[in-house]
Amino acid sequence: MKGIILAGGAGTRLYPLTMVTSKQLLPVYDKPMVFYPLSTLMLAGIKEILLISTPSDIVNFEKLLGDGSQFGVSIAYCVQPSPDGLAQAFLLGRDFIGDDACAMVLGDNIFYGNGFGRALKCAAANAEKNKRATVFGYYVNDPERFGVVSFNEEGHVVSIEEKPRNPKSHYAVTGLYFYPSGVSDRAKGVIPSARGELEITSLNEMYLQDELLDVQLLGRGYAWLDTGTMDSLTDASCFVQMIQNRQGIIISSPEEIAYNNGWISKEELVDAANRYGKSPYGVHLHAVAVGSVKY
Ligand code: G1P
Repeated sequence: MKGIILAGGAGTRLYPLTMVTSKQLLPVYDKPMVFYPLSTLMLAGIKEILLISTPSDIVNFEKLLGDGSQFGVSIAYCVQPSPDGLAQAFLLGRDFIGDDACAMVLGDNIFYGNGFGRALKCAAANAEKNKRATVFGYYVNDPERFGVVSFNEEGHVVSIEEKPRNPKSHYAVTGLYFYPSGVSDRAKGVIPSARGELEITSLNEMYLQDELLDVQLLGRGYAWLDTGTMDSLTDASCFVQMIQNRQGIIISSPEEIAYNNGWISKEELVDAANRYGKSPYGVHLHAVAVGSVKY
């Protein structure tokens, strides 16, 4: 199973914050935003990752994440010359994906909740073994801002629409997608929308029409956080700060996940911690290495 992090876009809604850096490198409390989607893929058990970003930002992601070995994964990089839609990732990533199943997470999507790792592993197995696609539905107040999925009385998906004016349900489709082998071929068939983009929703509609789309609902115990506006970015930071300080845990630390997955040794975890010096993040990784953080 391969994984793509799509970290493109101009981030104009966050100007001037994003004039010289990528939105997905901005801080969400104590770590760069991209650590969160990277953690999501790692929790799904994915070790081969492609990061896609803009021609000007890609070098900064490489500086931050390198080849991924400090996280026990491999990270390759690919430029998206212009932001032509989320489904374009599967065209750009065609060689990387090969014949494998592939997940994609948007670089600005933050997920948190008990049992999330299990849900992710189910979606990965559904793509690899059952050859079916999985997206995640999340009840929101303002569905018109998102892709929206609706269900019939038996709970089966009947429609999936991109930013509908009159949403048929309150269930937004989150920016996390699992597809079986062959997703690049399907993406080739996506026709640009009225706004000129290769919409991920069009790709999902293809799977729906072929009865190959499953929707996992993330219930009310989950947080799916948006980071697209000043307020939602600040809210996300406050959420992470609050949970971490209350519990003494770190949300979405790729090094900690790698260690817990058995992908890096204790020595490698200590090396990673040393790189971060005396920052709270580095101090936490040291505590994990000596076994004083257990939950
Ligand atoms: C994109 C997708 C949308 C999805 C959302 C999740 O929208 O097009 O279907 O619900 O991500 O974050 P965008 O944020 O690019 O407008």
